[in-house]
Amino acid sequence: MRYLQANRDHWDELVPAHARSAFYDVESFRAGRTTLMPLERKELGDVGGKSMLHLQCHFGLDTISWARLGARVTGADFSPQAIRLARSLSAELDVSARFVCADLYELPGVLDELFDIVFTSYGVLSWLPDLARWGQVIAHFLRPDGIFYIAEIHPFACIFSDQVDTPNLQIHYPYFSSGEPLRFDESGSYATPDTQLEHTTMYEWPYPIGDIVSALVAAGLQIDFLHEFPYASYQMFPLLEQDEDGWWWLPGQKSLIPMTFSLQAHKAP
Ligand SMILES: C[S@@+](CC[C@H](N)C(=O)[O-])C[C@H]1O[C@@H](n2cnc3c(N)ncnc32)[C@H](O)[C@@H]1O
Repeated sequence: MRYLQANRDHWDELVPAHARSAFYDVESFRAGRTTLMPLERKELGDVGGKSMLHLQCHFGLDTISWARLGARVTGADFSPQAIRLARSLSAELDVSARFVCADLYELPGVLDELFDIVFTSYGVLSWLPDLARWGQVIAHFLRPDGIFYIAEIHPFACIFSDQVDTPNLQIHYPYFSSGEPLRFDESGSYATPDTQLEHTTMYEWPYPIGDIVSALVAAGLQIDFLHEFPYASYQMFPLLEQDEDGWWWLPGQKSLIPMTFSLQAHKAP
């Protein structure tokens, strides 16, 4: 509970800062820019007319982007500030999307329906204290034959210090899970490094790729694919360089380490 409260306070406070940030660039989003990466758009394919549950949707930019592509989307997040802003953006832009404010683990008690797609992406898993229950929540919301899709920061890349600005990455964090969270005290974020937050403490849980796959299998899902990519969705390390598609690469090291993975699974009919 202490962890949940600290993380929620942190995320609540980040919302207005993120909404003003160049990283999220809400002005160009208002003008029609999608916040989805080409990866999830290509791998999920046509979402037109499909019902989608977007877990940990932050303030809804990806959720609204899916709605603009024709999906019937519900975004869920535990931050009241995030959900408030997501609702006001979807109303202002006249894009139909529903938003639910709840802790991920409480969602089955709040939302009573099944979805064609459960989607989640980029920076979600480390906030969750229990991966087995995460898998069960996903399985709970999928209709038979429904698809689960995640595009996420690769856990292997998370073992390196994100402060070191040299060509050599330095191992700083564990790859494996001990069950206990890592405590961080940071006044900024990936999107707003210069913000001075009041709620600086947050707790994150590292999960190896095997635990992620196994949590889904244990919940009864069948894995369709697990893809790994040598680029990041944001500037994970200071030395990364961005390409024209928005991906961040290690300079001159085109395939050294995985920094992103995507996974699709389905619920057996
Ligand atoms: C890094 S953000 C996701 C970012 C998203 N890909 C984007 O760029 O908009 C992580 C989100 O997880 C949410 N979150 C963290 N722990 C949660 C929990 N236990 N239940 C629901 N949402 C949670 C936070 O409020 C935050 O919006």
